[in-house]
Amino acid sequence: LARGSAAPDLEGRHVVVSAGGTREPLDPVRFLGNRSSGKQGYALARTAAARGARVTLVAANTGLPDPAGVDVVRVGTAVQLREAVLKAAADADAVVMAAAVADFRPAAYAAGKIKKKDGQDPDPIVLVRNPDVLAEISAERARPGQVIVGFAAETDDVLANGRAKLARKGCDLLVVNEVGERKTFGAEESEAVVLGADGSETPVPYGPKEDLADTVWDLVVRRLG
Ligand code: CTP
Ligand code: CA
Repeated sequence: LARGSAAPDLEGRHVVVSAGGTREPLDPVRFLGNRSSGKQGYALARTAAARGARVTLVAANTGLPDPAGVDVVRVGTAVQLREAVLKAAADADAVVMAAAVADFRPAAYAAGKIKKKDGQDPDPIVLVRNPDVLAEISAERARPGQVIVGFAAETDDVLANGRAKLARKGCDLLVVNEVGERKTFGAEESEAVVLGADGSETPVPYGPKEDLADTVWDLVVRRLG
């Protein structure tokens, strides 16, 4: 199928996509963040809309324009992302967690800007764990038959790491990217393997993020039945 002429196989469905990367504030001017661009999540939102879905896009710090025909909910932190995803997932047929969610956040937020003190070393930054949104929505499905998809960037034994993560998260599909070389954050193209909880393995060749997105929706549609 050529892009833009997709079958309306998500018509009548509500899908939720998270995109971008969370930022965890330290003080009014500083945060801990990551390099996720949000492009893969936006490609997922666009392709789902093109296939007829009602789409809620939970966007964390992307700075990308809202895709046409998509409900965009903007969030900053992991805690805010969790709230927005849980709310949208309540009546969703599928949830795709493409966002890079910070694993940790500063234990304390300084209401005033943190200042240097003459002759003193800086205070260490103490971190606490953030909620694991993907594990949570997978363990407590808002709807029976809801399909849940995670993303993981891995190095070393990419497939073994991906399999272990899929089992740990309890989701139905895990898109595993190998990071390094041309497979970098912010790139227009990507290469991946989609692992299924049913043991399936779907390789997606290096290409536009729309192609990976369409493969994800193909696999989701098959599981929605
Ligand atoms: N994720 C999430 N909530 C978190 C962390 C991650 O929902 N607090 C989701 C991401 O959106 C992604 C998937 O979990 O879809 C995998 O993220 P990843 O960072 O690879 O998983 P972690 O369990 O945090 O593993 P690691 O220790 O390798 O970072
Ligand atoms: Ca992580």
